[in-house]
Amino acid sequence: MVARSCSRPEPVPPASKTVAVIEGDDAAPEAMRPVVALLDELRLGVRWTYPPVGARAERETGSTFPPAAKAAIDAADTTLFGSTSGKSGAALSYLRWGKETYANVRPCRHMPGCASPLATPAGIDFVIVRENLEDLYVGVEGALRDLAPLNLIGRTTRRPVHALGEGCYAVKAITERGTERVVRFAFELARTRAQTPERAGSRQPKVTCATKHNMLPGTDGLFLGVAREVAKAYPDVEFEFFIVDDFACRMIREPQRLDVVVMPNQYGDILSDAAGGLLGSLGLAPSGCYGHDYAYFEPAHGTAPDIAGKGVINPTATLLSATMMLAHLGLAPAARRIEEAVARVYAEGANLTPDQGGTATTQAFCDAVARALG
Ligand code: IPM
Ligand code: MG
Repeated sequence: MVARSCSRPEPVPPASKTVAVIEGDDAAPEAMRPVVALLDELRLGVRWTYPPVGARAERETGSTFPPAAKAAIDAADTTLFGSTSGKSGAALSYLRWGKETYANVRPCRHMPGCASPLATPAGIDFVIVRENLEDLYVGVEGALRDLAPLNLIGRTTRRPVHALGEGCYAVKAITERGTERVVRFAFELARTRAQTPERAGSRQPKVTCATKHNMLPGTDGLFLGVAREVAKAYPDVEFEFFIVDDFACRMIREPQRLDVVVMPNQYGDILSDAAGGLLGSLGLAPSGCYGHDYAYFEPAHGTAPDIAGKGVINPTATLLSATMMLAHLGLAPAARRIEEAVARVYAEGANLTPDQGGTATTQAFCDAVARALG
């Protein structure tokens, strides 16, 4: 329970923002519920709604994403989403492709006390901006034999792709518009980060682009080409680029060199989990997905089915996603206070969940954050 400084209930301000909560699958609701309770206790004027989504909606309406769920998301100022392993997937698709949330922002920031596998994790503080809507995730796959009428000759194999044997293909689509908007977002974010009080004047903002342009000159070559063009409009921001496999090595060897990293969808998906691993757990990796007129927030994923029902999932990623959400809603001071409280709980180390080497339950961790908030 949240510690209060006096026993009389404080007046609840009128709700000024509405947040749609989708708890997610497997162990995800076990992280989401105490996080929402914690935020609710802070009386920030947030009203929570629960769109009917996933397994329960399916039992009640026959659909995992009935029209009422879409309407609730549309009516809310934003959505806080747990993780999905399937049943909440249709809602996730709507939040991404339906709402055109093209920039998936995944911060990777070391907190002293978290169980990083690195010998020197201090100072890790970068953000992956993952293009969120294109690439191999446009969802076009099929049988290779269906490509026979096109007679597509592989640049490397020099043979018709349909003649390789029985198999499947996937379409990787990268557009100029989709790339330009996410790269601009990354440069703007680099500028904004450089102005935050803890970073101001400490180093030049930087954007790093990672692509496989050597093997994929068409698609990834386009992504890199657009990034290089956009970079010209930001002379105050350093720009560098690496082949993505080389980048993966650098991200592990010298993560402190990174600031903002922009990548096509699939590399961003994979490497943001790896970035969570650098910190010590996927349970530490928050994210926010931003479009022109909607944004939603979700941990960088993993529904932890192996620990579902045990009450020990690490809620940090969900909580830090919620602080990104609060900042988006204009409640940055509250977001900062919560982040500082989370950092104190890690520094103190007495109430950490098992993935961090502790024995605390999810609720005990959240209670410790509430106490740290005072
Ligand atoms: C993520 C996840 C999702 C993705 C899955 C759950 C569809 O891995 O957000 O990183 O692939 O984008
Ligand atoms: Mg992922």
